[in-house]
Amino acid sequence: TLVLLLLMLATYCICGIPFGLIFGDADGVDVRTKGSGNIGTTNVAREVGPKAAALTLACDVAKGFVCTFLGTWVLAFFCFGGDVSQALPMGAWSWTGACLFLAAVCGHVFSPYLRFRGGKGIAVGFGAALGISWPIALGLLVVWALCTVPSKVVSLGSVAAAVALPFLAFFLYQPSSWAFELPFVVVAVVVVWAHRQNIAKMRSGDESTFSMRTGDAP
Ligand code: G3P
Repeated sequence: TLVLLLLMLATYCICGIPFGLIFGDADGVDVRTKGSGNIGTTNVAREVGPKAAALTLACDVAKGFVCTFLGTWVLAFFCFGGDVSQALPMGAWSWTGACLFLAAVCGHVFSPYLRFRGGKGIAVGFGAALGISWPIALGLLVVWALCTVPSKVVSLGSVAAAVALPFLAFFLYQPSSWAFELPFVVVAVVVVWAHRQNIAKMRSGDESTFSMRTGDAP
């Protein structure tokens, strides 16, 4: 348990690094004061440009992936006699990998470096899901793309993917346990909550479609 708690804390601290803010700052833009005010890839693309957006996406996905992928190996080494499958969705201790996934998303959404504010958890959640289960990550990507591509509304795909997450975890891994499911349900609630302004705008028809800034950032 101590190893898991320490890994969750490390995951939370690493995934709290706000790469969108860092790459925006490097181009002279504080993304928290522009566009949607979000520190994620969508707003960086909108307000900074393609290079910063690509870097933000890559680093946010990578931090989630590295934390859950390496975290499950560390858990395996210290707790499961080197058997990493124990911490993965089919394993007896599958909830431990799911807890790392939860810590990754919470680190980004409630960043310890931004007074517990942060992003919306999509890119980091995709990376963190990939680290424990490629089928869940693929399912999320398919749901996200099916909703985002036709509508061009990124937040619609993001909310749909968040809602789909507990169902994907449940149906892809049978028999599934409550302990394994719970972190996915909490992640879904956190991500939908982080999108509350987007949901209000979608309801009023004011949500912006995807756009990429061209030309120099101010
Ligand atoms: O991943 C974030 C996306 O779902 C919404 O971003 O900037 O439009 O609020 P944004």
